[in-house]
Amino acid sequence: MNNIALIGFMGTGKTSVGISLAEGLGWDFVDTDKMIEKKTGIAIAEIFHKYGEQYFRKEESEIVQTVSWLKQSVIATGGGVVLNEDNISCLKKWALIICLRAKPEDILDRVRCDKSRPLLAVDDPLKIINNLLKKREPYYQCADLYIDTSEKHVENIVAEILWQLEKRGMANAASSNYKG
Ligand code: S3P
Repeated sequence: MNNIALIGFMGTGKTSVGISLAEGLGWDFVDTDKMIEKKTGIAIAEIFHKYGEQYFRKEESEIVQTVSWLKQSVIATGGGVVLNEDNISCLKKWALIICLRAKPEDILDRVRCDKSRPLLAVDDPLKIINNLLKKREPYYQCADLYIDTSEKHVENIVAEILWQLEKRGMANAASSNYKG
């Protein structure tokens, strides 16, 4: 297995951890949301606003197929990628799936000032976070590995992942000496 897909709810740290993890492994980093924005030429919030969630999900699935050709890459996915079964089967074929988790309050702290997440642009985001987390929990069960990112620094999270990868024979001693 020479790819890693990071899944997990919005604000669990997929992008920041992904960038640092790729650096630690000497692999490439890609972000499916960024790829969607590049392909469509439109920001995610704007896609939701203009064309709706269904259109976004279709674009997201196409990008998941595209990234399945990559090698030695860490792929940060959008929080809702798991909602489509085909996305999961595709990811499972070519990547180790790591699910990042965080407490709802931490998620809120991390996304509070970020207007790029249309699903959380509501009056009571904590309520939506709790509802969505509950609904999505069964979908996140598809992961090979779970890492809690609450109250942890990125470098500690990455060190924990590298240690887990080394146990699975996926990372060498050099990357396990990662200091962030
Ligand atoms: C979404 C998460 C977002 C983005 C879109 C939908 C979701 O990505 O894909 O706004 O359904 O949870 P992040 O998880 O990177 O915020």
